[in-house]
Amino acid sequence: MLNAAKDLLSPSRRSDVPPFIVMDVMAAAAAREAKGERVVHMEVGQPAAPAPLSARRAAQAALEAGRIGYTESLGLPSLRARIAGHYRDAYGVDLDPGRIAVTTGSSGGFILSFLSLFEAGDRVALANPGYPPYRHILTALGCEPVLIETSAETRWALSPGALIAAHRKRPVKGVIVASPANPTGTMMDARALGELIAVAEDAGIRVISDEIYHGLDYAFRAETAAKLSPRAVVINSFSKFFCMTGWRVGWMVLPEPLVRTVDRLHGNLAISVPTLAQIAAEAAFDGRAEMEAVKHGYEENRRILTEGLPRAGLDQFLPVDGAFYLYANIARFSDDSLDFANRMLAEAGVAATPGIDFDPIDGRHFLRFCYAGSAADMREAVERIGNWLGG
Ligand SMILES: Cc1ncc(COP(=O)(O)O)c(C=O)c1O
Repeated sequence: MLNAAKDLLSPSRRSDVPPFIVMDVMAAAAAREAKGERVVHMEVGQPAAPAPLSARRAAQAALEAGRIGYTESLGLPSLRARIAGHYRDAYGVDLDPGRIAVTTGSSGGFILSFLSLFEAGDRVALANPGYPPYRHILTALGCEPVLIETSAETRWALSPGALIAAHRKRPVKGVIVASPANPTGTMMDARALGELIAVAEDAGIRVISDEIYHGLDYAFRAETAAKLSPRAVVINSFSKFFCMTGWRVGWMVLPEPLVRTVDRLHGNLAISVPTLAQIAAEAAFDGRAEMEAVKHGYEENRRILTEGLPRAGLDQFLPVDGAFYLYANIARFSDDSLDFANRMLAEAGVAATPGIDFDPIDGRHFLRFCYAGSAADMREAVERIGNWLGG
């Protein structure tokens, strides 16, 4: 009887995905702050700035106007048209707005793209280190993530050679690319991305390009996979460049034959993305200048860290091309990044994310710093880390 009752409560095997360890760092940081201690937050990957004023005003006006109903499953037609227009303005690509699907952040785009492209049991390649939910969502959907080690020669991005070598060992059905990437902040230039897509598609491997950090590029312009192949699935979001993490709006650019599939899936899974957030997202495009100013702040933060951290003792990090992350090698000090992050929080008052969140293989040697805060915070972090490591 007892065992039968226990069976009723046991979760499914596929739901057994690891937690995000950064949440534990956040909780520890919050506990220290509750005791009145100062913490410089560099652990969470989200902008400190609010959504563009234009977005907030549009949401306020819509609230006051009254009724907020469902929208079409693929999103408000005016928002889809605006997103298509963004591809013309930002990349010089003419896209049919009919190929755009509005999603619940890019997170919603992952679920929809994995469901529409892969069967349970399919193997999907990803760069290691990488954003953990790629692996965990694939696992929960019954697919198998295939981690491919990256190296300095390809700026820590997937190379065509490494992808094809993995495919020859045991075929993969798809590949996820991200440029700029999380946690490394590294990017692929247009040629590298184009070659990877061409080689993958030649081998029958479906390409998903996570472009959530587009707009936040410092070393060179990020290219969209939508310009390089009509078969690639592009995923993007209002969370990062537009500082709208909590609004939960993103989008996909779909190959034409997948549009109706995603329409049906999304209609069943969610009906539509929250309407108020879609209205705000459409107006966010009018706030680009405001967001460019926020980006200039990140550029200054990047300069403070790339100049200051080496003086503070952290002198090994991957190229800081884009997004708002710096991925530092701490092997000189520790081979346990979780312990190092906990001690840095407790003793220096700086919160960062241990690499084991992003890399089950070598993450114990890395820490990810998010530089989406203020310049004053960055200077303080450099000073605190310098005093801690030096003393
Ligand atoms: C690489 C990457 N993709 C996707 C996401 C998910 O973002 P959202 O669902 O808010 O669009 C994040 C969030 O940190 C990320 O770093």
